[in-house]
Amino acid sequence: MALNKELINKIISVTSRAAISCHKFLGKNDKINADKAATDTMRSEINKLKINGEVVIGEGELDKAPMLYIGEKLGAGGNLNIDIAVDPVEGTNFVAKNLPGALSVIAVSEKGNLFNAPETYMDKLAVSNKVPHEATDLDFTLEKNIKNLADSLNKDISNITACLLDRPRHAHIIEELKKMGVKTKLISDGDVSGALMITDDKYNVDIFLGVGGGPEGVLAASAIDAYGCKFQGRFLFNNDQDKFRARKMGIKDLKKKYDLKEIIKGDSIFCATGITSGDLVKGINVKDNKYITETLVTHKSSNICKIVIREDTIKT
Ligand code: FBP
Repeated sequence: MALNKELINKIISVTSRAAISCHKFLGKNDKINADKAATDTMRSEINKLKINGEVVIGEGELDKAPMLYIGEKLGAGGNLNIDIAVDPVEGTNFVAKNLPGALSVIAVSEKGNLFNAPETYMDKLAVSNKVPHEATDLDFTLEKNIKNLADSLNKDISNITACLLDRPRHAHIIEELKKMGVKTKLISDGDVSGALMITDDKYNVDIFLGVGGGPEGVLAASAIDAYGCKFQGRFLFNNDQDKFRARKMGIKDLKKKYDLKEIIKGDSIFCATGITSGDLVKGINVKDNKYITETLVTHKSSNICKIVIREDTIKT
């Protein structure tokens, strides 16, 4: 069963309003309250919808309430049972410092179709739909992935660009890419955006890779699913507590490599509204007391991948 197109506009208003509620925190160096404002707004907006929703990717577990926690039931009821993945503020540092690239993000699927991921790190790889599925793999060496990618895209290695988070844990990857002559796009935060860069030539990114948040990995997979792109992820666990929690969530093989189809199945809607302007969408613009938002929207079953501009007059 496909998710009704009418739901799209409703979901856009959820991320749009969550983004607007953050606007007053731009550059205030207050990540906590910015995140809280967006989270509270997301919750109250989703609760207006006639759905039976359950948060499968949230801001923590039950003990961390009042964040949108994994397992939280949302919606005003009805016949539509859906799974919800949220990141009310993706790029809290960007909001705190009023820097480009902060988004408010949500993905929804029919019940049981969105992976219930633990809050841990994930090793990720994403490439566009122009690259044959078998050309790249998390288990290949970096060199093999880059060579296969260059061959598939008929590009010289020096014209390949890899996007990854600029973190000390990636120093060896960055060094190896440099030695191979690959260009890098090193992002300081926001790897949902990073993964989305492979969906369109205009971003000039051929591969997204490296370790980032697991929940962000699930959101990224949901986002690029409608573009027919490839995503793989493998959770990484730093301690026994994280492993215990993952097992409690039903993950038996902690080293398993997940393909996109195991992370998100069936129909889905993904929305990312710009809080501050970035590569994907513009940030919130206030004009004549109206908030103008830009949202990147995908709806898999109707092949929608577009930017929606919305005006709102809500008070924040
Ligand atoms: P927040 O918005 O929750 O701060 O996450 C930003 C982010 O850059 C994610 O996009 C990314 O997956 C994660 O943090 C990386 O984590 P770390 O900063 O620990 O490397």
